[in-house]
Amino acid sequence: MFRAPEGVEQKLGVEEHLAMGRWWGEIGNDWDSHPKMLHKDVRRLSNDPAEGEVGAGADGWHIDGYSSKNPYLLNIMHFWEASEGGETWISPLKELVEGLDAETRALWEDLWFLTGDGKGKEFLHPLICKNSITGDPSMIFHCGAYKCWGLYRTEEKDKDEADRKMIDF
Ligand SMILES: [Fe+2]
Repeated sequence: MFRAPEGVEQKLGVEEHLAMGRWWGEIGNDWDSHPKMLHKDVRRLSNDPAEGEVGAGADGWHIDGYSSKNPYLLNIMHFWEASEGGETWISPLKELVEGLDAETRALWEDLWFLTGDGKGKEFLHPLICKNSITGDPSMIFHCGAYKCWGLYRTEEKDKDEADRKMIDF
C-alpha cells in the first residue's frame, strides 16, 4: 500500500499504477467491468455504485485471487478516499500461521480449501502454502459463506465429489 506524505493530495495515475504492477510481471484481471474504470486491468471499487463496484470482498476474510487457479502474487491497492465508518483489516499470514499451536498447524497443513471462479471452474488450494517469493508460510482461503465450498483433508481431496467428505468447521 502506498500513502502520500501527510498533507499532500496525490492520486496515483492509472499508467503509474500499471507500470508499478509490471515491475513484478504480467498483470491479470478476472473481474467485471465498471463504466468508471480507467483501464481494464485496474479494478475500481467504491461504496457508491456510480463510482465503482460495490461490496467486493466485504463478505469475509480472504486473500485476493483465491478463486483463481493461481492466487495473485500481489495486489496493488490505491485508496483515493477512506469511507466513513468502514475499515479494511489486513492480517500478516506468516505470523498467523507461525503462531498456531502444533495441533492446529498440523490440521491446517493437511487441509484443502475448495472454491470456484463462479464461471464453472473449481479449485482446491492448500489452506497453508508457501509464499512463492519468500518461502514464508502463507494461506489461501475465503471465509465468505458462498466462497468457501468446503475444507477437505488430503486423503479426501482427490476423491470424486460424491465420495469426498468435508470437515466440519
Ligand atoms: Fe480482497
